Amino acid sequence: MREFKNKVAVITGAGNGFGAEFAKEAARKGMKLVLGDIDADLKRTADTVKEMGAEVETLVMDVTKYEDVENLSKLTIDKFGSVDLLINNAGVVVSGPAWEVPLRDWDWIFGTNVYGLIHGVKAFVPIMLKQDTPCHIVNVASVAGLLTTPSMAAYHTTKHAAVAFTESVNYSLQAMNSKIKMSVFCPGFVQTDLDNCDRHRPERFAIDPKDPYYESESYKAGLERAHFVIKTGMPIHSIAMSVFTAIEEEQFYILTHPQYLPVIGLRVKNILDGKNPDYSIFNK
Ligand SMILES: NC(=O)c1ccc[n+]([C@@H]2O[C@H](COP(=O)([O-])OP(=O)(O)OC[C@H]3O[C@@H](n4cnc5c(N)ncnc54)[C@H](O)[C@@H]3O)[C@@H](O)[C@H]2O)c1
Repeated sequence: MREFKNKVAVITGAGNGFGAEFAKEAARKGMKLVLGDIDADLKRTADTVKEMGAEVETLVMDVTKYEDVENLSKLTIDKFGSVDLLINNAGVVVSGPAWEVPLRDWDWIFGTNVYGLIHGVKAFVPIMLKQDTPCHIVNVASVAGLLTTPSMAAYHTTKHAAVAFTESVNYSLQAMNSKIKMSVFCPGFVQTDLDNCDRHRPERFAIDPKDPYYESESYKAGLERAHFVIKTGMPIHSIAMSVFTAIEEEQFYILTHPQYLPVIGLRVKNILDGKNPDYSIFNK
């Protein structure tokens, strides 16, 4: 996708963090915007892009529910008649040992980080195929989808799924000679509000106050680690520009943190060499 002016961008999780930055970058490029988020703070992003001169529609919605994502697609077509760029960005993090994390939290993170992408592709790809115009879909995964670390099984599992899902859908679109291009965004830590994502839990995934897990050392340590790595992550200002350049250049894998490349390489090398993963790399 090389032309952005007057084209229509749909962004989920646009209330905060990456989503808000993508919305501002799209507005800078003269795009019309449809923004979705579970948090009514979405209005803040909408007000900012309006001030920048963008036409914008918003929907408070939950990517874990297919009907909500379908409503986002209906709003897009009703208001603007087409869709050119979809950024499936909404996401959450859950940390802690796999066997301790409550099943409800597994459902929440799969609902958001995996089903959120599935819902986006199911609702928007048929519209894009029918349009038969140059379109682009960015699925926001993470470098956590290309490597693994301890006590992050839930996040890694969903982000590896996000990478695999995007690769497979992209192959299918290529096989059809479709005009839809795809990218998977795999950043390392960036300063956003991701570490406070418990505040975006849909009602049915709310923290159960009777569950002792949320008083446990594992849960508290996970939160502390998340606060530390997110607040000491890369500043956010260059992220949206990197992603839009990649869209323009039809780059599939978008990586912004080269310091992780040796770890990704080591994982692949271990697989190819038949070597076992070795925890001691985390003590170096
Ligand atoms: N910040 C990082 O270091 C980092 C690194 C790699 C990948 N990511 C990924 O980037 C994406 C965006 O996260 P962020 O860091 O900007 O976090 P953020 O918490 O600042 O923003 C996420 C936004 O998604 C929204 N959201 C959450 N659940 C939702 C739902 N069910 N339906 C609709 N909207 C929902 C939130 O309200 C919020 O506005 C996520 O997929 C995250 O996994 C972030």
